[in-house]
Amino acid sequence: MNYLKDLFGGDPRQFGMVFALVALVTFFQVQTEGLVLTSANLMNLLNGNAYILVLAVGMVLVIIAGHIDLSVGSVAAFAGIVLALAMRDWGLAPWAAVLLCLCVGALIGAWQGFWVAYVGIPAFVVTLAGMMLFRGANQALGHSNTIPVPDDIQYLGGGYLPPLAYDTGLNDPTLALGLAAILWLVLGTWRARRRTLRLGGEVPPLGATVVRLMALSVVIAWLTYQFASGRPGTSFPIPGLILVSLVILYSFLAGHTILGRHIYAVGGNSQAARLSGVDTRRITFLVMMNMSILAALAGLMFVGRATASGPFDGVSWELDAISAVFIGGAAVSGGVGTVIGSVIGGLVMAVLNNGLQLMGVGADLTQIIKGLVLLLAVAFDVYNKTQGRPSILGLLLRQRPTAGGGHAPGSGSAAGPAASSVAGSPAAAVAGTGVGASAVRSTDVGSGPNGQPGSDAGNQNAPRPPGSPPVSPGQGTSKRLTLLVLGLVVLGSGLWYLVNGGRQATPTSPAARGGLTTDGQPSGAPLPQQATGPASAADSVSAARRQAGARPGFPPNSLIGVALPQKTSENWVLAEQLFRDGLAAAGFKLDVQFANGGVPEQQNQIQTMVTKGARVLIVGAIDGSQLGGQLREAVASGATVIAYDRLLTNTPAVDYYVAFDNYKVGVLQGQALLEGLRQRKGPPPWNIELFAGSPDDANSQVFFNGAMSVLQPRISDGTLVVRSGQTSFAQAATPGWKAENAQRRMDTLLAGTYPQVKLDGVLSPNDTLARAVLTSVRAAGKDLPVVTGQDSEVESVKSILRGEQYSTINKDTGALVGHAIAMVRDLQQGKVPAVNDDHSYFNGVKIVPAYLLEPLIVTQANVREAYANDPILKSIVNP
Ligand code: BGC
Repeated sequence: MNYLKDLFGGDPRQFGMVFALVALVTFFQVQTEGLVLTSANLMNLLNGNAYILVLAVGMVLVIIAGHIDLSVGSVAAFAGIVLALAMRDWGLAPWAAVLLCLCVGALIGAWQGFWVAYVGIPAFVVTLAGMMLFRGANQALGHSNTIPVPDDIQYLGGGYLPPLAYDTGLNDPTLALGLAAILWLVLGTWRARRRTLRLGGEVPPLGATVVRLMALSVVIAWLTYQFASGRPGTSFPIPGLILVSLVILYSFLAGHTILGRHIYAVGGNSQAARLSGVDTRRITFLVMMNMSILAALAGLMFVGRATASGPFDGVSWELDAISAVFIGGAAVSGGVGTVIGSVIGGLVMAVLNNGLQLMGVGADLTQIIKGLVLLLAVAFDVYNKTQGRPSILGLLLRQRPTAGGGHAPGSGSAAGPAASSVAGSPAAAVAGTGVGASAVRSTDVGSGPNGQPGSDAGNQNAPRPPGSPPVSPGQGTSKRLTLLVLGLVVLGSGLWYLVNGGRQATPTSPAARGGLTTDGQPSGAPLPQQATGPASAADSVSAARRQAGARPGFPPNSLIGVALPQKTSENWVLAEQLFRDGLAAAGFKLDVQFANGGVPEQQNQIQTMVTKGARVLIVGAIDGSQLGGQLREAVASGATVIAYDRLLTNTPAVDYYVAFDNYKVGVLQGQALLEGLRQRKGPPPWNIELFAGSPDDANSQVFFNGAMSVLQPRISDGTLVVRSGQTSFAQAATPGWKAENAQRRMDTLLAGTYPQVKLDGVLSPNDTLARAVLTSVRAAGKDLPVVTGQDSEVESVKSILRGEQYSTINKDTGALVGHAIAMVRDLQQGKVPAVNDDHSYFNGVKIVPAYLLEPLIVTQANVREAYANDPILKSIVNP
């Protein structure tokens, strides 16, 4: 056991996390039959998570200093949009735009740092305000649109090192980097060891150090080979390089500079630090400012990877970064944590995500599992603290306490910067000194910034600080340990059940290859779909009866409320303007709102419209099933409710539905995919993958059903092959309609399922996601598949003209808004609005009379004529 401890260095708690990471990787490697540890997947893991890990690097310093930063996602998004606009609209060169972006981060950081450090407002509040402020600023500046960025920026977010002169068949800069890392590790460890000996310190036996160095070198060499031997043109990715540089820089800063020690001191016990002469306000200011600069950098990297800056970039990134930091061993109370630990914590989450996705586990279960892991990690931490021990591993490695209360092996050096030894940092062995150890809060046992026993960790007989739980090496400990083990077993079995029992069809499942699985139908409330059974009942909904339900009109200048969802595609932004202009021109008062803050915000907006006396509510719901209460009140107040584009479900309180024929949209997408494959991909069989929209949008399932009505028979007869086996709606869904979610899933599919195989086509439910899919395929260096879309977004129309994206669906927003306004006019005059469908849209409670418009399929063949009269697109298609 001692040997093991010597082998792993002085910080078993950190190693606990490394072991967890190794165990996870091994688990997924086995479960996915080797898909995790491939060059392509390793690159994806880095590219897809580097920006979160960069945030974690900044966040751990904030948390060590005893604060929190909730604004990082919004700051990243704001800096990202400034970057994109600076190049597109303000004429800045990329290098100048990057500089501007980082300066924006610094300025925001100074602003927030000022409030926290010099005014004394808690960071939680200041950054909560910042979260709203900079999200709003991002959307105001970019008009909630997506702004593309040029190649130079894309390089920073997903580029590779070019090969050098020697053609080794491997990427030689990557080889050189790997070699340098091994040399640095060996020489650094050696130097540190000699210095410790010279100073009279204790070092592990030589043999243990040599074995450790050899093991780490083998790991680095293997990783180097993986990164160097990927598909031609790839290497260790640029975002990875940025991350590694930051980790080295900040580990050094935290562990080996006075500034670093002061940060630990401030978080450990700020009063003591102040009395020791530390300028605590300055430290707080700097830490907050640094965080925002790194957030700007993360925004830049993300925008580069996504190839564009969007209005929802950065949403909930702060939570990912904070989870990484806590999983990595930082203390909620401040004073404890390491840069490398946080990066490992972030990697644990990233591997979980990636592995579960590769296994085809849905996004819902993935969240559950990630939540449990976070809780478990912090529970360990808290448990260890109350026990005065560094970790479970530390417990296992611990010797029986000696009567004299001697220092137990594996103790004392919890999460100080010396833990950087985990990454093989040569700095590890250097024992630091300074204010940190003495200033660390007394309850943070084992957490001295220098890994010193600034506490009684492992020293069973040392005096305990007042108020801390008594530590008895006897029965108390074994009882807690038993409880902990029991808890672990319960959680472990839960996880096992979730992964195996609740798992979706795996890539190897023949049933799943068959197409739609029964779990494609969400459980619970019935979803809107082409009514089958209820249709007959609907037939009896006669025009006469509807006429009988006519309501009296209302004054022509009444208030009309328009509640729109998040701006997840351009058509929503366009709709806003068209509603404003159209309703005003018709003489109505209007209240048009977007609910970028989510469902609760939309509920409040509708409530407010009702309170203000709106006579008609036009609702484009985020989640059509979550507005029942507000709609009931609207109808009770005498208002008429029109569902716009997305059906309102599970409520009787909806009068009309105006939309494009969503099922037909799906059918057209399915047909376009087949036609594109025939035209562009030679004879069948064709490999395809399926993407669906956000599960909370009622339209998503209808689009998917429509498309599958065309594709399923071809999957069944073998013309189409969904190689991943992910054919259910739940597996194909893209939470929040977010491009980054689609891009990440495509990355994973490409690495896991298509390393050697060609991908011929992708069903994409809309244009935003189609472009994300194409970006991912391009980054993987593969031939472009046939990709469908919807919405006629400007960038997608350009892409169709270039022969990249295959198709889109033209849903003329002007016509849709125009029809909704025509309904309002009818209602105002006491007439019954015209509908052309009284049987298709059963919302779970009633059949909603609908006016359905005809969608039009657009490909390169008809793109010019399709948009010849479109006010925005005509100049693009016929310049
Ligand atoms: C709309 C689509 C749009 C998607 C994302 C759907 O409800 O019908 O046109 O692409 O939402 O905003």
